[in-house]
Amino acid sequence: MGRPEPVTIEVDGRTVPAHPGESLATALLAAGERSVGTTRGGARRAPYCNMGICFECVVTVDGVPCQRSCLIRVRAGMRVRTAVPR
Ligand code: FES
Repeated sequence: MGRPEPVTIEVDGRTVPAHPGESLATALLAAGERSVGTTRGGARRAPYCNMGICFECVVTVDGVPCQRSCLIRVRAGMRVRTAVPR
């Protein structure tokens, strides 16, 4: 069984290819997003545990803030905002 054909998602206004079913954190890293959020003080954060524990990977997905990207599966057309201060 192979990897599904890529779809596109929108990341901060950019169209990015991603594979349905893979984690959004994986798709963001594959797209070159080395950090996905910031603290209130402006420090950049990136996925760390990749299993929903650390909350370092939170992004806004389809207008819903504070979503852990490591727990969300890619869906075609999803709209993602990174670098949203927590
Ligand atoms: S990487 Fe730790 S909660 Fe997502």
